[in-house]
Amino acid sequence: MKVLVTGHNGYIGAHLVPLLKEKGYFVIGNDINLFGGCEWEPLTKPDLEFNKDLRKLTVGDLAGVDCVIHLAAISNDPMGDLNPDITYKVNRDGSIRLAEIAKQAGVSRFLFSSSCSIYGKSDKPDMTEDDPTVPLTAYAISKIETEKAVMAMADDKFSPSFLRNATAYGHSAMLRIDLVVNNLLGCAVARGDIRIMSDGSPWRPLVHCKDIARAFVAFLEAPREKVHKQVVNIGGNKENYQVKDVGNLVQKLVPNATIVYTGEVGADSRDYKVNFDYLGILLPDFKLEYTLEKGMEELFQKYKEHHFSVSDFEGEQFVRLRTLKKRLSLLEV
Ligand SMILES: NC(=O)c1ccc[n+]([C@@H]2O[C@H](COP(=O)([O-])OP(=O)(O)OC[C@H]3O[C@@H](n4cnc5c(N)ncnc54)[C@H](O)[C@@H]3O)[C@@H](O)[C@H]2O)c1
Repeated sequence: MKVLVTGHNGYIGAHLVPLLKEKGYFVIGNDINLFGGCEWEPLTKPDLEFNKDLRKLTVGDLAGVDCVIHLAAISNDPMGDLNPDITYKVNRDGSIRLAEIAKQAGVSRFLFSSSCSIYGKSDKPDMTEDDPTVPLTAYAISKIETEKAVMAMADDKFSPSFLRNATAYGHSAMLRIDLVVNNLLGCAVARGDIRIMSDGSPWRPLVHCKDIARAFVAFLEAPREKVHKQVVNIGGNKENYQVKDVGNLVQKLVPNATIVYTGEVGADSRDYKVNFDYLGILLPDFKLEYTLEKGMEELFQKYKEHHFSVSDFEGEQFVRLRTLKKRLSLLEV
C-alpha cells in the first residue's frame, strides 16, 4: 500500500515516516525542505522522495497512491502572521488543490492535519467538534476553510478525514522549540529560568508529536466507513493544561530554574480547553502513549544528551519563524 506524506521532513513527519515504514507501507515523501539542515538527529528517509512545493505536485505524482497524509504547511499562528498571504496560498489554496488532484488520481483516503487552534478563545469548559470555531489568526482560518472545502469533495471513492491536533510537544528528530512545552523546558535547561509570556492562566490542549503521528496511522488503518468525512479532535481530556501547570512541571525537572511571569499576552490570545471524547468513541483501540509528564522527562533527557545551550535556544535552528524569515523566497511560485 502506497502512502504519500507531505511535510514528511517536519516535526511530526519525522515520527510518521518511520512508523509507516515499520508497518510495511511504501512511503512517498514530499517536502520543500524549508527547514533543511535544522534537524537535531538523522531523519528516516521515505522509500521515494519529492522535494517540490506541494502546489506543484501533479496528478501523475499521485498515481497509484492509496492515501495522502497532508502535513505540509506554514505550521503555526506566529508564522502565519509573518505573511498571511503566503499562509492562505500554501495552507488553504495549496491544500484544496492537493485534495482535488488526489481525487482525480483515484486516491481513496485523504488525511488532513488540522488544528485545535481553530477554537481560538472560549469560556466554554471544553470544545467539541460541533462547537462554533473562533479562528483568531490566518493560520487558524486557513485550516477551517480547508476543512470546509475538502469536506465538500467527499464521495463514495474519496474519503477525507480532518484531524484537529492539539498543540504538540516532545522529542522529534526535527525538534522545534517554538511550541510552549518545548520552549519552557528548553529555556530552563539553557538559561536557568522559565519565562511565561502571560500570567500563566491560558488553557492549552497538549499532545505528544509521536501520538499525533500514531493517530494518522490509526486513521489510515481504520475501516473507511468509520473515518469517512470525520472531523476529530486529537489529544486527551486529561491533557488540557494551564500554561502555569507546564511551568510547574518544568520546575520539577529543573529545580534551580526560577519562574518569571512576563505578563505580556502579545499577539497570542488563545485560551481554550478541548474535549476529546469523540476520538475514543470512533477509534476505541487508539490510546495516547504519552502523558505530558512522561513526554517532558524524555525531552529533558534529550536536551541533556545534546548539551542544549543558550545559543541553541536563541538561534535559528529550532525556531521555525526565525528560519522561515530567511527562506520565504523558497515559497515563491
Ligand atoms: N506542531 C503542532 O503543534 C501542530 C498542532 C496542530 C496541527 N499541526 C499541523 O501539523 C502539520 C505538521 O506540523 P509540524 O509541527 O510538523 O510542522 P513543521 O513546520 O515542523 O513541518 C512542516 C513541513 O512542511 C514543509 N512545507 C511547508 N510548506 C510547504 C510547501 N509549500 N510545499 C512542500 N512542503 C512544505 C516544511 O518544509 C516542513 O518540513 C502542519 O499542517 C501543522 O499545521 C501542528
